[in-house]
Formats: sequence, C-alpha cells, structure tokens
Amino acid sequence: MDYGLTGKVALVTGSGGGIGHAIARMLVQEGAKVVGADLDPSQLSALGGEDQILPFKVDLSESTGPAAAVDAAVDTFGRLDILVNNVAIAPARDSFLDVSDEDWRHVMDVNFMSMVRACRSAIPVMKSNGGGSIVSIASDEGRQPDVFFADYSVSKAAVLNLTKTLSIEFGPSKIRVNSVSPGPTRTPIWDRPGGFADYLVEFLEAKDRDDAIDKFVREVRRMPIQRIGLPEDVAHAVLFLASDVSRQVTGSDYWVNGGTMISI
Ligand SMILES: NC(=O)c1ccc[n+]([C@@H]2O[C@H](COP(=O)([O-])OP(=O)(O)OC[C@H]3O[C@@H](n4cnc5c(N)ncnc54)[C@H](O)[C@@H]3O)[C@@H](O)[C@H]2O)c1
Repeated sequence: MDYGLTGKVALVTGSGGGIGHAIARMLVQEGAKVVGADLDPSQLSALGGEDQILPFKVDLSESTGPAAAVDAAVDTFGRLDILVNNVAIAPARDSFLDVSDEDWRHVMDVNFMSMVRACRSAIPVMKSNGGGSIVSIASDEGRQPDVFFADYSVSKAAVLNLTKTLSIEFGPSKIRVNSVSPGPTRTPIWDRPGGFADYLVEFLEAKDRDDAIDKFVREVRRMPIQRIGLPEDVAHAVLFLASDVSRQVTGSDYWVNGGTMISI
C-alpha cells in the first residue's frame, strides 16, 4: 500500500523501543522524515540516514520536553505533518492505596501531559503548513480499567477524551486527530527485568514469561485471537491514520487488541 508519506515530516514520541520504534521504522520505510524522541534514542540511528531520521534525546515528562521535540522537527526538517503521541509508562501496582501523589503526577506527566504539550506546540506549526495528522496511542485500559494500573488507565482515558476535543476544534484547520488503542502487545514494557511479564509470572504462578503471557492472553483477557500482539500490528494502524488515505477519519479510536473488548 502506498500511503503517500514520502517527504512528510513526523515526530514520534517514545520511539527508542517497542511500538514507537516500529512506527518510526515503518514511517522511514514509507519515505517520511522522522524525529524520534526518547530518553534513550540510541536504537534510532540505524533506521536511516541523517536526512531521514533524527534521534532526539529528551525527557518528555518535563514541561519543556515535548516542545523541544517539536522545535527539533521544524529546525531540522522545516515543517511538521504528523505527530504520534506514543510515549507512556505503565508501572504495575498492587493496589490503588500504594499510588502516591508523586506517582500519579509522574504517570500523568509522561502519558498525558506529554500529549497536551506536544499538541500545543505542534498544532500552530501544522496550521501554518495547511494541516496535519495527530495520532495518539491510548490503550484498552482507557475504557476497560485494570486494578494493576489505576493511574495508567486514567491517563489513557484522558488521551481518548482529549483526542475527541482536538478533533472538533481543529478539524476546520485540516488537522485530523485520532487514537489507536492497543491491547496486550509484546514490547519491553512486558519483557524488561521487573516488567509486567515478571509480575505475571508471580501472579499467575507461571513457569516463565512466555507461559505467563500465554495464560494472561487466554485465561485473564480471554482474547479471541489467542496471541499477544506485536509492535508492527499497532504501527500499521498508525500509518493508516497518519496518512491522507484516512482523510475522512477524525475523532476516532482504532482498536488493535486481538478482540479483548467485545462491545458495540
Ligand atoms: N505494550 C502493550 O501491551 C501496550 C498495550 C496498550 C497500550 N500500549 C501503549 O503503547 C505505547 C508504547 O508502549 P510500549 O509497550 O512500546 O512501551 P515501551 O516501554 O516498550 O517503550 C516506551 C518508550 O518510551 C520511552 N520513554 C519512557 N519514558 C520517557 C520519558 N520520560 N521521556 C522520553 N522517553 C520516554 C522509553 O525509553 C521507551 O523507549 C504506550 O503509549 C503504551 O501505553 C502498549
């Protein structure tokens, strides 16, 4: 499929690994110029030459971080057509009672305020370009909260809500605003030491991470497609929404979740 992305300029937050990295890789493959913003952008330079990818080291939880990433796109590539708000953290919690004010602030800063701040900087640039596309990565948890992730789930509900508001206000400026809600998707968020897979090994009394994930997919989430998703599964939906192929789509949320949520 030719998405017509050649020469478009994109910013992908949290693209040092996982889903964001797959999105950045596929955008570069489609001919876009990409700024990859991350605490650790070291894996991004392998995606292409300096004229295609700018690895940008930044802490997106800081109030000035997202604006600095937008500025880097404009300074380096001259414009911004696509913003992918992907960055998030998902610390597993034993109970709501353990989540401090500081924990709440940090999760909201990374997962939601980074979207607010990136959009506030990117939208005037997109308006001056004549339009653009914003795609934010939400989650199943934004609609179907989980006791493991009270604060994360709230941050994703906020992403879904703001997506609708922005789509209404900026549709007349030819800026489309959509979200993608992944279900369980195997990335470092699961597999890093002490990550969610390790948590599940203990919780589900599983043999190892693979066994824990399999039990989670089949027995806890009861996913009709009985496999965990891969980063590319999410990236395909993002490319569709980022490109003009989806020119009639705004204010929507695309589920890429193997059927975890059955509702109309
Ligand atoms: N993996 C899943 O099962 C799943 C499910 C639903 C939704 N999602 C969503 O998909 C998106 C990507 O998740 P993932 O699984 O690829 O995560 P990940 O942890 O694998 O990657 C996140 C990236 O964000 C970067 N990052 C974290 N904090 C940062 C900060 N303060 N500043 C800059 N960079 C920072 C990390 O370095 C990392 O490269 C997130 O929005 C997540 O909520 C993931």
